[in-house]
Amino acid sequence: MELSVSILSVKKENCIQTFYNLETAGVDYFHIDVMDGEFVENDTTKIMTEYTEYLNTITNIPLDVHLMVKDVMPYIKSYLIFEPRSITVHYEAAKNKEELLGWIQYIKEQNCKVGISIKPNTAVKEIFEFLPYIHTVLVMTVEPGKGGQKLIPETIAKIKELKKYLKENHLEVEIEADGGINENNANGLKEAGCDIVVAGTSIMNSDDYKEIVRKLKVKD
Ligand code: DX5
Ligand code: ZN
Repeated sequence: MELSVSILSVKKENCIQTFYNLETAGVDYFHIDVMDGEFVENDTTKIMTEYTEYLNTITNIPLDVHLMVKDVMPYIKSYLIFEPRSITVHYEAAKNKEELLGWIQYIKEQNCKVGISIKPNTAVKEIFEFLPYIHTVLVMTVEPGKGGQKLIPETIAKIKELKKYLKENHLEVEIEADGGINENNANGLKEAGCDIVVAGTSIMNSDDYKEIVRKLKVKD
């Protein structure tokens, strides 16, 4: 599996050194958790912009932007400037199907990959109709809004259901899981069909980034 490290829990002091250490440890992407204080309670807009500016100058590791915001379009535009690998919007933030399709089209027109994220209580069937147009489904394995939560076990069945649907319909969409992921549940996520896992706390709390990154990637 590939590993996208959430920078939500990176401490401000010597954050540059932390980003270097994460890059050397072999992360595949930096996961940027943008929260506007409306779609979710926390507001990380300032710090995420600051960190993304640093990352854009010091590393070539691709950026995996996760927008947990209500007013989506302005954030899509401001993060496209950083030329991220992908921008992921929340299904639950769209007023209707047309609005969601509009975001998808706009992001792809700017040559950026697009993902849809679903909260733990959103059924995977809600996004089936959008799968032919997107690159990634970000399955939230915690309620979005903060780091350091425990993975919700029921979300693993959603990953299995999504993987089955993708196979049956010959769709090449990546499955990415996000929230509460650590060395003890990474294997189960891979078996359920995950291509990418997002981890923040389990990496930031470890004293050997290289080791925890290796364990989370669950090499074959
Ligand atoms: C939660 C974010 C996740 C979270 C992951 O709203 O989308 O990316 O920061 O962090 P941990 O690994 O601490 O759950
Ligand atoms: Zn996230």
